[in-house]
Amino acid sequence: MNKKLISVAAVGALLIGLAGCASGGAGAGGGAETDGGSGPKPIEDLVVGFAQVGAESGWRTANTTDIQSAFEEAGIELKFSDAQQKQENQIKAIRSYIQQQVDYIAFSPVVESGWDAVLNEAKAAGIPVILTDRAVDSADDSLYESFLGSDFVVEGQKAGDWVVEEFADADSVKIIQLEGTTGSAPAIDRAEGFAEVIGEDPKFEVVASQTGDFTRAGGKQVMEALLKSNPDVDLVYAHNDDMGLGAIEAIEAAGLVPGQDIKIVTIDAVKDGMQALADGKINFIVECSPLLGAQLVDIIKTLNEGGSVDKRIITEETTFTQEQAVEALPDRQY
Ligand code: AHR
Repeated sequence: MNKKLISVAAVGALLIGLAGCASGGAGAGGGAETDGGSGPKPIEDLVVGFAQVGAESGWRTANTTDIQSAFEEAGIELKFSDAQQKQENQIKAIRSYIQQQVDYIAFSPVVESGWDAVLNEAKAAGIPVILTDRAVDSADDSLYESFLGSDFVVEGQKAGDWVVEEFADADSVKIIQLEGTTGSAPAIDRAEGFAEVIGEDPKFEVVASQTGDFTRAGGKQVMEALLKSNPDVDLVYAHNDDMGLGAIEAIEAAGLVPGQDIKIVTIDAVKDGMQALADGKINFIVECSPLLGAQLVDIIKTLNEGGSVDKRIITEETTFTQEQAVEALPDRQY
């Protein structure tokens, strides 16, 4: 083939590729096409690979259960892997889904960076990827079809707004921040949103900020250590309920009363957190919904039918005071 013919063929191939992309379907080369390459694949023939972060928190367990039951209910086969909070495990799982030629890959990235290579591999294999819960920091958003999950910056802002109101009459407020997994989107964004709000008044001082890795044990351990060097702290801002629950244990072990001697604001609103809020041990919770399964199934069904989906789908969430937790607890699903 001469050079001209090669370039005509290349443009033709590119146009076919673009048509597939524009449809938003697995036609980008993905396995969801029927053998003839046209029309949606029967739902019962679809295979989706899901690479989960781990089982670090009550939130994560609820998220896993919700995703698994949504796929079961929809009659779509779900291959599931637990990365035990390690990025290399998640990358391995995604590569294995590519090898198995699943129709779609969904995952909640442990950390924000370092995904371009494996996402390009999925793209080259024509397998559409959906991000759930957490973002990647890739500059190329064609590497995934959609990102479904909370706005973590807004969650941090909501926590900050409550703190500003709660301590309106105080002259100075010393804060310990228990961060989520280092490098993860929720840890980065929740710190940013909170700092933005409290940063407007110099009376708020974050005296210590350390990661508890989103676990109860991590929250307890970090709080024990930080309490020793900051016995006069006024507030704990924990990036999730589990770390807040761990902090409660540390505060009680130090002979102090959580929720009174030291106020606590957390994010998630899982049942254990809501119970501690209703019991007066936590003062305020910003909700982060783990119920993403049904929306993920809808995205996959839409793509399978050749439809398009929004690049960013933000979950709707609320906040809870102690009184609201008492009311909400009996009907809380997770
Ligand atoms: O990415 C969502 C966060 O991850 C939740 O707030 C936390 O509990 C989980 O581990």
